[in-house]
Amino acid sequence: MPRIPLIAGNWKMFKTIPETVDFCLRLKDEITALQGKKVDVAVAPPFNSLAAAAQALRGTQVFLAAQDVFWAESGAYTGEVAPRMLKDAGCCMAIVGHSERRQYFHETDESVNRKAAALLKEGLIPIVCVGETLAERKEKLTFRVVERQIRDGLKGLAVNDPLQLVIAYEPVWAIGTGQTATPQQAQEVQAFIRKLLGEVFSPPIARGMRILYGGSVKPDNTAELMAMEDVDGALVGGASLEIKSFGQIIQRA
Ligand code: PGA
Repeated sequence: MPRIPLIAGNWKMFKTIPETVDFCLRLKDEITALQGKKVDVAVAPPFNSLAAAAQALRGTQVFLAAQDVFWAESGAYTGEVAPRMLKDAGCCMAIVGHSERRQYFHETDESVNRKAAALLKEGLIPIVCVGETLAERKEKLTFRVVERQIRDGLKGLAVNDPLQLVIAYEPVWAIGTGQTATPQQAQEVQAFIRKLLGEVFSPPIARGMRILYGGSVKPDNTAELMAMEDVDGALVGGASLEIKSFGQIIQRA
């Protein structure tokens, strides 16, 4: 079965609740304009806007995602949000292991693994981010770093359907820098990731699982990236904040 592309917008720490609602209502029009084109769309607003976004997106096929999660079901964890709470707010997905969380908030492959497991247990789809830094690429460590992130991050996860989990390959040097990976660079690493997924899960799961590319995706480079065999969509930061550019990326996916 061909993999349906997924375009996911990661809003990071941007947009108020009214701005979120306004964007979601405009997104509805963009989706209607797709007229049956096969592309899945997701948005990941900050936690406080999730419920309002869910309300505004009601009746659409747009997936609502959180930008992070904590693995415990409940408890004395000040500031954290549990998978069940995300579901309650209308989410069906959550990003885990984004490089900004790895860099600024001590996210590790082990915490990514626990968060992904907790999401799966609740029936939510983890979008697991992996990717090397510029220093690692220069030292030719890209494959070693990504292999560790995939093997340790996905260890022991109960996945029996390829649509239960999404991978996002986001080279850290391409995030927010305007320096997109070339389609060949993305393809090379993403083909490698798919091979690893075959070992971690099974070849049929690997064939059906979506691997997104992320890092300075813009309307102008969407088509060439998406033309690659193992690029099944995009995790979009900056360009997902404006409905015009996000809509164009969806159209070109
Ligand atoms: P960017 O961010 O598109 O602004 O580079 C991507 C991301 O961080 O997911």
